[in-house]
Amino acid sequence: MEKIQIPLVDQYDRHLNYLRISITDRCNLQCMYCMPQEGLPKLKHEEILTYEEILRLARIAIKLGVRKIRLTGGDPFMRKGVFDFLPRLIALSGLEDVSLTTNGICLRENLEKLRSFGIKRLNVSLDTLQREKYKNITGYDGFEAVWEGIELAVKLGFHPVKVNVVVIKGLNDNEIFDFARLSFRYPFHVRFIEYMAVGVTDSDMPLHHIPSSQIKEQLEGLGELIPIPKSAYGGPAERFKFRDAPGEIGIISPVTNHFCHMCNRLRLTASGGLRPCLLFDREEDLRGPLRNGASDSDLAAIFLKAASKKPHEHDSVSEQTTPFSGQMSSIGG
Ligand code: 5AD
Ligand code: SF4
Repeated sequence: MEKIQIPLVDQYDRHLNYLRISITDRCNLQCMYCMPQEGLPKLKHEEILTYEEILRLARIAIKLGVRKIRLTGGDPFMRKGVFDFLPRLIALSGLEDVSLTTNGICLRENLEKLRSFGIKRLNVSLDTLQREKYKNITGYDGFEAVWEGIELAVKLGFHPVKVNVVVIKGLNDNEIFDFARLSFRYPFHVRFIEYMAVGVTDSDMPLHHIPSSQIKEQLEGLGELIPIPKSAYGGPAERFKFRDAPGEIGIISPVTNHFCHMCNRLRLTASGGLRPCLLFDREEDLRGPLRNGASDSDLAAIFLKAASKKPHEHDSVSEQTTPFSGQMSSIGG
């Protein structure tokens, strides 16, 4: 491999050391905020980066300073061969952390394998604790499967297990307490995320976020929220815990409180686009050059270009505007 040593630092001195890789746009759910009811056209097999291609790009990214990789989808378990790919990714030298975000439907039966690869950290999306509502939000009667996966993950020693709750007005905001109470019983991190009105959803069903300030006020009704300092590579969550609770609470406010100034991410889409910002509709194509004989240095230059295009901050995601035409399911949230 050619020597490339320029670190990925953008114009605003943000060190881009975190790469999120969407390995598939396929998902076994159809969350109402992510996909329209009729579904979305799927990428063709040849449009998706091969595992070899992803590994090559990951190696280059690591040379440029990436230290943490998260696999997303769609749902990462929906891609064939993922369990052969994962150990190869984890073995890349220079990488300090590999984690995974999943909807949890296929989690339970795969936890032992994940653990044997050395994966410790998991993010699981779960927007309701009510079985019927789960079916309503995701189109699939899968609450039990996800819940059993989460409980088993905790039992098997995964840590942290983060439960991501996208809070939508009138849909699950009445469950904020129920979710928060889980932190008294389980050591996992419950993270409330402001819903972003972006991407492709059903236009006849406008969804609205709840500002994180209101989420916090509600939480304070349950007890004093004790702030926890941010950790290394710590994401954008404001972290808290209740006294004597083994678990944590996180609040992520992409809408009302931009965390752009501390964003350390780049995103590689399933089709090989390198996206400097989730909410900024621009990506650099890596797949074309990859398949047309580009050298590692050429590809590294594309990473650096994407970094240089990382916007200072995104426009406010108002409830009406859609600054982004991408599909969450191939970008990976
Ligand atoms: N707003 C906020 N979060 C979202 N996610 C997907 N779509 C949205 C949205 N519109 C979340 C998922 C998952 C993560 C990958 O992104 O729930 O937790
Ligand atoms: Fe739901 Fe995530 Fe699948 Fe979208 S990609 S349908 S948010 S589980």
